[in-house]
Amino acid sequence: MPATRVNVSIPGEAPYDVRIGAAVLGDLGADLARAGVAPPRRVLVVTDGNVEPLYLGAATESLTAAGFAVDSVTVPAGEGSKSLAVAGELWEAMAQLGLGRDCAVVALGGGVVGDLAGFVGSTYMRGVTVAQAPTTLLAMVDSSVGGKTGVNLEAGKNLVGTFNQPAYVGACTSTLATLPEREWACGCAEVAKSAAIDGDDFFFWLADHSVALAARDEAATQEAIARCVVFKAGVVAADKTESHGVRECLNYGHTLGHAIESLAGYGTFSHGAAVAEGMRFAARLGQRLVGTPEELVAAQDELLDALGCPALPWRAPAPALLEAMRRDKKARGGEVRFVLLRDVGDWVVTPVEEPVLLEALADWGDAWA
Ligand code: NAD
Ligand code: GLY
Repeated sequence: MPATRVNVSIPGEAPYDVRIGAAVLGDLGADLARAGVAPPRRVLVVTDGNVEPLYLGAATESLTAAGFAVDSVTVPAGEGSKSLAVAGELWEAMAQLGLGRDCAVVALGGGVVGDLAGFVGSTYMRGVTVAQAPTTLLAMVDSSVGGKTGVNLEAGKNLVGTFNQPAYVGACTSTLATLPEREWACGCAEVAKSAAIDGDDFFFWLADHSVALAARDEAATQEAIARCVVFKAGVVAADKTESHGVRECLNYGHTLGHAIESLAGYGTFSHGAAVAEGMRFAARLGQRLVGTPEELVAAQDELLDALGCPALPWRAPAPALLEAMRRDKKARGGEVRFVLLRDVGDWVVTPVEEPVLLEALADWGDAWA
């Protein structure tokens, strides 16, 4: 199957290609050169402890063959590496290696490596070229595109970061063969989110291909990634820095999702599982507030089930959930905001008053009891 290419064009930014295909990692060096990151520049590949033994060799080989001088740094796998301490180690390593402003940083891994390496690259010497080589479905459909980078603080996730578009994104789908099932479902939840916000064409295509995507069929996977990238590129083009009320739509399912992750304890459920539950809740809240059709609630439930994101067997008291939502960085002045769907693709972001939210959360709890 030939690779797919999506060009991302964001006002005020250099356009860049996202290449999606089973052999894309082998083309990494040539693709970087085509993207204007010309050899013999020095390249630092940042990866994690799980991805390194699987794919660092292929990435290095491709870059070296294209004439780049390659170094690499491996960070521990997991969210813990998205920290100022690890970012500091990377900045120091880059300085020790003598990397200058003309170097490039390649993030080889999931969203953790992508956000971390993107942040480090966008700040080292006031910013060097960054490219993304995502190896999780979530990173391919969401985090590698759009330029959000960052690390976490004790006080919360992603509290320090930059907006910095990559020069190139290479989504090599054959790397997904080794992705654990939980991570696959995590990516599928984000695909479902994008489809529900994007519109009928994507949503009904996904409904028709959900079983194939859950089974990691190559054609369905490439098409799902490409559709997500086109969708996200459009959103980011309209609202690069999440300041015009458009990029916020990407938070569909995330208001309750973040509260579940925080209250259940990070890692208890995957981010995707929590977001999927958040989408189920948001659809039901939408029925009360903006007329989300019953058929959409049912179709979304069916889609999430088929994608391996079943309803969560977990609940918490409504006041505790409300408090967690108020603490979330997406809340504004303690006001809890939800992305709701008037229909597929017809979204609205709205603050929800406390009594209404408490009642809906209590109903959500009762539905499981
Ligand atoms: P992750 O990077 O932690 O990867 C999940 C796990 O899969 C890790 O253990 C990793 O080592 C392993 N892994 C990665 N690729 C693999 C492969 N091909 N085979 C086997 N194992 C592999 O998690 P993620 O879900 O990719 O990303 C989550 C992060 O992304 C969060 O920090 C989140 O905040 C961030 N994020 C950022 C954006 C953005 O716009 N920048 C958007 C969404 C999420
Ligand atoms: N995943 C959220 C964003 O990129 O804005």
